[in-house]
Amino acid sequence: MTLVLGIESSCDETAAALVTDGRDILAQAIASQEEEHSPYGGVVPEIAARAHAERLAPLIERVLAEAGKTLHDCDAIAATAGPGLIGGVMVGLVTAKALAMASDKPLMAVNHLEGHALSPRLADANLQFPYALLLVSGGHCQILRVEGVGKYQRLATTIDDALGEAFDKTAKILGLGYPGGPAVEKLALAGDPRTVPLPRPLLKSKEPHFSFAGLKSAVLRAHDAGQHGDADIAASFQQAALDCILDRTRRALSTMAPVSALVVAGGVAANQTIRGGLEGLAGEFGLPFTAPPLMLCTDNAAMIAWAGVERMAAGFEPDPLDLKARPRWPLDPDAEPARGAGVKA
Ligand code: KG4
Ligand code: ZN
Repeated sequence: MTLVLGIESSCDETAAALVTDGRDILAQAIASQEEEHSPYGGVVPEIAARAHAERLAPLIERVLAEAGKTLHDCDAIAATAGPGLIGGVMVGLVTAKALAMASDKPLMAVNHLEGHALSPRLADANLQFPYALLLVSGGHCQILRVEGVGKYQRLATTIDDALGEAFDKTAKILGLGYPGGPAVEKLALAGDPRTVPLPRPLLKSKEPHFSFAGLKSAVLRAHDAGQHGDADIAASFQQAALDCILDRTRRALSTMAPVSALVVAGGVAANQTIRGGLEGLAGEFGLPFTAPPLMLCTDNAAMIAWAGVERMAAGFEPDPLDLKARPRWPLDPDAEPARGAGVKA
């Protein structure tokens, strides 16, 4: 049995987990920083880094104790090395280096996006490469062909906001606080998605990418106009976002080499309306649809430990102790930059 300790600290969740190559999550713990950041309506990087530094070590101790393991039982220490808020990433990576050095275990540096991309395989032993992946989180919105561990072809990305960001901004406009995705989804249940006319940026466009900035501005205008209730705005926003997702993913599936399944991962994959829509789309293409359980959608350390397991099994070498944390780290470095700033690519 291979046992990997995973560490995640790239945004506002401090997390540790112990995962085996048999897909058992022996223990996992997540400390959310919601309380620290909510007064600011978003994540404050400096506050996040300090909170990770305070919480990570006790969290790792707790996870080891819960599983009845010690560091010496682990075969590797895996930690997110980017992309993300650099202060937080450094806290996790430096902790992992120290543990690796003290216990003489290999360090596996994990790309946070690879953690999300492989998380569906932790939950579903039958999911085979290659699969089509819609990766939708607070910082990213991409369609990838996942060809193997470390092998990603990016077909689409956002030219402005990520989908989770659009949910969070909509929540802010509607006064729902942070983090916004789950709150918008909940409020949308009480609304009618056909009531507020909102744009669907890049719908039917020949270029493959996503855009959500115009949708967000339209939500702001609809809210300021005061003619619609908040629940109707939330429901209409969610429907417009879903329409964009389905159109762009349909386009990608029609142009992509064959795949075994359509998969969604990342924080926004927790959204039931979006999961339902994608399941229908997979059906159109005769593909099975897979989405990880909710606790593996939003940031967690089990997916980082699992990516470590996958990297070891695929023969990747451990990383050196002088490895640098990376604020940006694309999964497909060969992808053509998208129109616009390409900042989120
Ligand atoms: O993957 P994640 O936890 O962190 C990043 O790597 O960014 O994703 C967080 C994002 C946030 O924008 C959050 O609002 C969104 O995922 N999110 C949701 C839901 N749960 C989380 N968006 C829509 N519906 C949800 N149920
Ligand atoms: Zn994430």
